[in-house]
Formats: sequence, C-alpha cells, structure tokens
Amino acid sequence: MHKVIFDTDPGIDDAMALLFLHRHPEIDLIGVTTVFGNAPIELTTRNALFLTQEWNIAAPVAQGAGVTYDPARPEGHWPTFIHGENGLGDIEIPETMEAQADGRPAWQFIIDTVRAQPGEVTLIAVGRMTNLALALKADPDFAALVKEVIVMGGAFDLNGNVSPAAEANIHGDPEAADLVFTAPWRVTVIGLDVTLKTVMTSGYLAEMAAVGGPAVQLLSDISQFYIEFYKHRVGDGMVIHDSCACVYLVAPHLFRTRSGPIRAVCGGIADGQTIQKPDGKVFPPGHWDGHPSQLVCTDVDGDRVLEVIRAAI
Ligand code: BDR
Ligand code: CA
Repeated sequence: MHKVIFDTDPGIDDAMALLFLHRHPEIDLIGVTTVFGNAPIELTTRNALFLTQEWNIAAPVAQGAGVTYDPARPEGHWPTFIHGENGLGDIEIPETMEAQADGRPAWQFIIDTVRAQPGEVTLIAVGRMTNLALALKADPDFAALVKEVIVMGGAFDLNGNVSPAAEANIHGDPEAADLVFTAPWRVTVIGLDVTLKTVMTSGYLAEMAAVGGPAVQLLSDISQFYIEFYKHRVGDGMVIHDSCACVYLVAPHLFRTRSGPIRAVCGGIADGQTIQKPDGKVFPPGHWDGHPSQLVCTDVDGDRVLEVIRAAI
C-alpha cells in the first residue's frame, strides 16, 4: 500500500487526480495539503474540502501557502480562463463547508505526518512546490524520512505553457522548485514532455461518468470548462497533467525516465525553466554539481495511463 500526501491546487485536473488517489486500491491517501496556484489559497482549500466531502474522502485537508516561498516575488495572475473563476470550472460550490481544515499549516502537517511514519510516506505535489520548500526550511532532516517525491511540473525538452521556457507549477514559484529538486530525497518529475501525451477525450470521460455514479458525474461537470479551454489546443479532450503524475506511483513501467541533477531557473527571461544535466554528460564545473541525481520522465504510454485511471475511478 502506498501512503500518500497529495499537495494540490484544485484545480480541475487536480480534482481528477484526487479522485484517482482516493479510489486506487493500492493507495492510502493520508493527507491533502493545499497551495495557491490555479486559484487563491482560500479557494483551493475550499475546493479541496468540497471535493473530499462530496467524495467521502477521510483524509484531512491542511491549508498551505498563499504566496511564493520568496515573498518578494511579484504576484502572478490566476488562470481563470483554464480553471474558471472558482478553480473548479465554475460549478456551484457552497460558500461555507461543514468540513474544516486541519489546524496546522500544510508544511507542519507534512513534517508531522512523515515523522510519525518514517520511510513510508510519498509526497505527490501537483501545484507550486511552496509547501514542500517551507517544510524543508523548517526541518531539513525530514527529507531523509520521505519515501519519495513525485512532482507534476516543468518542461525539459519542450516549450513551457506560460512562457517558451517555463511550465506553470514551476514558473509560479521557481525558488521553491529549486529547493525541492536539490534536496536530499528521491524526486521524480513528470512535466509537459509526458503529460501532453495523456489527453482524455470528452467521449472517454462521458463513458466513465455513465458507469461511475455521482462522483464521476461531478468530475465530468467540473471538467467541461477545462475541455472547452483545451478545444483550441488539443482538439477534443483535456490534458490530465496531475493524474498522469499520480499514475507514475503505481505504474512507473509506463514511463521512460532519465536521471541527473535538476535545477529551476530563478529570474531573467527563462524564469521558471527546468533544466536537467543528464548523468554521464560532462560539462565544465557549474550549477548542477554536487546536487542529487533525480528522475525526469521523458516519455509515456498515454493510452495505458488513461486505462489505469479509468480502472481506478
Ligand atoms: C499544471 O498547472 C495547473 O494548471 C495544473 O493543475 C497542472 O498542475 C499544468 O501546467
Ligand atoms: Ca495542479
């Protein structure tokens, strides 16, 4: 059984990933931590509480960062044109929720949970990596107690999606990402290079909803806004970035990986770019030296990733 803390900014593709983690028989979802990104932190937390309540997910929700690791960074914009004004495709959501967030900030929740179960907890981060970076700052030794870290973010051999260089989750907080990539733990990064190969058509989702009951119907309702956004980019369907990263946990054989230290560019025209120095390639001494070798996913069997999601959900 994989024990997972899901660090997320729901977010439409985040919602699908949450339902996948909840329903997969080999995954024990032990916590949900929120971060700003697809919407402000108050909304991503409310959305996480709403979804856990609707889907009977028992894992506690802890609210995380509302601003970047370096507070001096200028504020970004909310991608309302992708996820809607409320972050969940503008479906109706009650203003107040019966369920309450855990009293601790996300970084503290993460440290406490990992320290209580050393070596057993996987962190899956599919938003800005601010909470993970704050946890590393507060307790650098906890990194060694984490089983593994799986990240949705970055673009290595492709253009980004918020600039020619950068993908949204990294561009939104590059300093945090760089800390996470260079910390002494095992990180696997699933970026646009592979997530753009996992496109779920509207028909595929409709078939899932037809047999999946009210939970999947809710997911389908939330997803219509996102499908509309992707119409002009991938034709019929939606890119399921965050679910793709979650599938890596249970089906890593569907992915091709490359190892080597990773850095995030912090500032300048390539702000938020992710660069890996592949192991075995020799360069003059530089920014990648002395950092742990991490995995970047370079290819994926997209059809089989969809099957894993459908089977679980
Ligand atoms: C990532 O950015 C967010 O909009 C999505 O939820 C995903 O995590 C894709 O670039
Ligand atoms: Ca996300």
